[in-house]
Amino acid sequence: MELREALYTTRAMRRVRPDPIPDEVQARILDAAIRAPSGGNAQPWRFVLVDSPELKAELAPLYRASIGALWEGPYRERLLRAKADPDAAASRSMLKVQRSAQWLADHYEQVPLFLFCFVRGDAGAGSIYPAAWSAQLAARAEGVGSSLTSVLGASHPDDVRRLLGVPEESWKNACMVSFGYPTGRWAVAERRPVDEVAARNGWVGPLGFSVPEPLWPIQG
Ligand SMILES: Cc1cc2nc3c(=O)[nH]c(=O)nc-3n(C[C@H](O)[C@H](O)[C@H](O)COP(=O)(O)O)c2cc1C
Repeated sequence: MELREALYTTRAMRRVRPDPIPDEVQARILDAAIRAPSGGNAQPWRFVLVDSPELKAELAPLYRASIGALWEGPYRERLLRAKADPDAAASRSMLKVQRSAQWLADHYEQVPLFLFCFVRGDAGAGSIYPAAWSAQLAARAEGVGSSLTSVLGASHPDDVRRLLGVPEESWKNACMVSFGYPTGRWAVAERRPVDEVAARNGWVGPLGFSVPEPLWPIQG
């Protein structure tokens, strides 16, 4: 797959089929992930794949509780606003994310594979995200959908450590990436355009160009 296609079309693909992901595909995903950079090349990471039905059954209610708490907590006002004006573009986007995120919570046990990414000795956990994103890009190249989630490790750190047998508290579960063959189609990720979120030579300096439409696929 062409690199730019992967960059533009790797979305949060949460709705997936229960079909297992072959070991050789998992190996290619993980081996690509661990090529990612980390501060000082310390590779302060440990990855735990989860596909055991028993383990998923224990993690599922925790994940559902974490997502429920998100809707009732930090997302409450945004969701209320979106529901009050469901046709506004921002509301549609918010409600779409909520439905998709809730699908993952509701179908946790059916998702064939999760990758728990642990990091330690890295204050901002910045060393783990390039690897997690590389895993998602590598999965995209295999036709495997994925979604990075952070809510479980943030809200139930002790349960995650206990269930996965993490030996030391210094290991932080930065994220959990779900994987599976998608039920939907790949599409270019919708984002605010470059000239709305970037500047040159200072916070508000004109960028010098604008990109009203995605630059992939290449036109003409
Ligand atoms: C740091 C981070 C944390 C995230 N946490 C969650 C999460 O806990 N649950 C979830 O369903 N999605 C989570 N996501 C996925 C985002 O919601 C998703 O990437 C975003 O809505 C864009 O989706 P799209 O690529 O399909 O447009 C997270 C993404 C990032 C980068």
